[in-house]
Amino acid sequence: MKKSRPHSEQEGELVVPKSVAVIMDGNGRWAKQAGLERIRGHERGIDAVRTTVTECARLGVEALVLYAFSEENWQRPKREVDMLFRLLKRFLVEERATLMDNRIRLLHSGRRERLAADVLRLLDETIAMTADNDGMRLSLAISYGGRQELVDAMRALARKVAAGDLLPDAIDERAIHAALYHPELPDPDVLIRTAGEQRISNFLLWQVSYAELHVSDVCWPEFGKEHLLAAFRDYGRRVRKFGKVL
Ligand code: IPE
Ligand code: IPE
Ligand code: MG
Repeated sequence: MKKSRPHSEQEGELVVPKSVAVIMDGNGRWAKQAGLERIRGHERGIDAVRTTVTECARLGVEALVLYAFSEENWQRPKREVDMLFRLLKRFLVEERATLMDNRIRLLHSGRRERLAADVLRLLDETIAMTADNDGMRLSLAISYGGRQELVDAMRALARKVAAGDLLPDAIDERAIHAALYHPELPDPDVLIRTAGEQRISNFLLWQVSYAELHVSDVCWPEFGKEHLLAAFRDYGRRVRKFGKVL
């Protein structure tokens, strides 16, 4: 069910999606335009994360998935990768109060194997600390790839078949969905991507099947409340047919 609320400053009605996914792109470009090092863009991106997270929670979004580090991002220069994880660690500690104040429950989507022990420790601690929060669920996609998630799901199902716990013919959409990293999260209603790029970049391949796409031209560090509201207003204008005739 979509929640609709009137929004006085803007024309028309603001439709708040139940589930939102964001490909936070353009940190490097933002920094370059400002004559700064790429890493400064990532640093500024944290402020945009805080704004989007708190605003989504305030508006009543139930689930928000933020693409923070893709499986493919491991191929970036080590210096940039190290800095990104340093920022992530800082975020995990410094934003705990924000998460608790807004009753947000943190989750992780992605593979744990390549994550350093200190990153995993902070991630697990913050996840545990927020586990009883009953507000918005926020999943950080870190070391995440949509294809890799499907590979992991297929392996889990294959293991069940091999153990005699699952019949091949019992593998249906529901079974595959249940083997994803967070089957409890609703599929995104809207997928927002910043910095004008019109591609999925291996994000939530299974889950975005019927997501509405919203591309914002602003780079992630500049993505503020007004851009999020613009995305939701755009979403509110979409006619979702799910293959049917309305
Ligand atoms: C997004 O910004 C952040 C991550 C992918 C971690 P980019 O670093 O991709 O910025 P651009 O695309 O180079 O501008
Ligand atoms: C996607 O952005 C990954 C994240 C936002 C974490 P990229 O900048 O890595 O994607 P491409 O390379 O433009 O497809
Ligand atoms: Mg990019």
